[in-house]
Amino acid sequence: MRRALSRLWPASLAGRTALVLILGLMAVQALGLTIHAFDRLELQRIVQAREVTGRTFFLWRAMVNASPERRAAILAEVELPPGLSASVEAEPVVRPGMPPVPPREAARFRLDGPTPGWGPPRMRPREVLSAALPGGGIGVAIRLPDGPWLNLALRLPPTRPWHSDRFLIAFLAMSVAAAALTIWGVRRMTRPVRDLAAAAERLGRDVNAPALPEQGPREVATAAAAFNTMAGNIRRFVADRTQMLAAIGHDLRTPITRLRLRAEFMEDETQRRKMLADLEEMEAMIAATLAFARDDAAAEPAVPLDLAQLARTVLDEAADARPDLAERVTYDGPEHLVLPARPVALKRALANLVGNALAYGGAARLGLSRREAGVELRVEDDGPGIPAGELEAVFQPFRRLEGSRNRETGGTGLGLTIARSILRAHGGDVRLVNRPGGGLAAVAVLPG
Ligand SMILES: Nc1ncnc2c1ncn2[C@@H]1O[C@H](COP(=O)(O)OP(=O)(O)O)[C@@H](O)[C@H]1O
Ligand SMILES: [Mg+2]
Repeated sequence: MRRALSRLWPASLAGRTALVLILGLMAVQALGLTIHAFDRLELQRIVQAREVTGRTFFLWRAMVNASPERRAAILAEVELPPGLSASVEAEPVVRPGMPPVPPREAARFRLDGPTPGWGPPRMRPREVLSAALPGGGIGVAIRLPDGPWLNLALRLPPTRPWHSDRFLIAFLAMSVAAAALTIWGVRRMTRPVRDLAAAAERLGRDVNAPALPEQGPREVATAAAAFNTMAGNIRRFVADRTQMLAAIGHDLRTPITRLRLRAEFMEDETQRRKMLADLEEMEAMIAATLAFARDDAAAEPAVPLDLAQLARTVLDEAADARPDLAERVTYDGPEHLVLPARPVALKRALANLVGNALAYGGAARLGLSRREAGVELRVEDDGPGIPAGELEAVFQPFRRLEGSRNRETGGTGLGLTIARSILRAHGGDVRLVNRPGGGLAAVAVLPG
């Protein structure tokens, strides 16, 4: 029951607001129409009672004035309102022991006292009996001056306030009009919230996404302005950080060149070679840092990009670079899969993952698949994997594992850092997992 109800509860702000408003309006309408229907009913009853009493007085006067023989003919001719029947009999229709007429009814049909309706005093009946008839209705017996009784039985058809087409049509028409207006209004009013959510999502993928228009109602304009300020701050922060990285890398080059010159003058041959090797490594690290800072991932515009195509290109290039492992490079995925992305940056991220798989795992099997949250890119190899405690640590800049200290196997330890930075700038991420059967898997996800 709860589950069924929660399924009916809409997920969106507009849906929820519209539902609450529509239900509320329908309740108010139903109440309003009910009040109206009861009012109308009351009026109808008053009119009915007037007619019944008026007819009764008329009939009474006719009976009093007519001779006993004429009475039956008058009764047969006279037109009575629906529900009212009249007869002249020796016995009253009201028997002792019958329950009295409810006071409300009695008042309505003027049974609760002398009324001017009887006409002049000589016309007033000597005896009027009234009671509630068995099976519903009111019985009234009026004694005629010469002895017999004028018996009246009033059985009014039950009033049905809901039994009106107009009621249903009015309710439906008002509900539909109210629902249409509500949905239109609510959608209009919640559009800025939707825009803001979309803009926040876009910013997660692309820091250079265009600014939100700062218009509309005051609250919305304020929120948009605050959002734009925040986006600007993030952009500036990213730019400042990259610029600082570039400046440090650049300025370190001069002292390293000086150190290299000084090393040349070292007496000890082995020490000098080691020193020069260290300096060379430092230069390589700085060169990598500068390269990363230079083509900063955020500066490239995002375009619709065929990920399947990109993956195959990266694999082809990796296979060309390592012809000995070419047949251990495979692709498994759709022919085409288009996503908004920055091509150069994403290619570099993918190339880093594939390069690692080949360098440390001797194989690269790339799998591309659609997931609920977006797209998953998986690069598997057959290497030794990475100790569980180091799976996150290798993403840190210049972090290389003992086994890969040997410079021949690869780069400077920036590859994974750069790959993660690029994927996160796309709103995605990458992590490493050791496969149960051995080997490592780099799992990258992209939203969309
Ligand atoms: N597929 C892999 N199998 C085993 N170890 C890996 C794998 N990929 C990366 N590593 C380890 O993580 C370290 C960091 O990788 P990376 O950031 O690409 O730097 P680099 O490749 O320049 O050393 C590597 O030095 C290596 O020790
Ligand atoms: Mg690498």
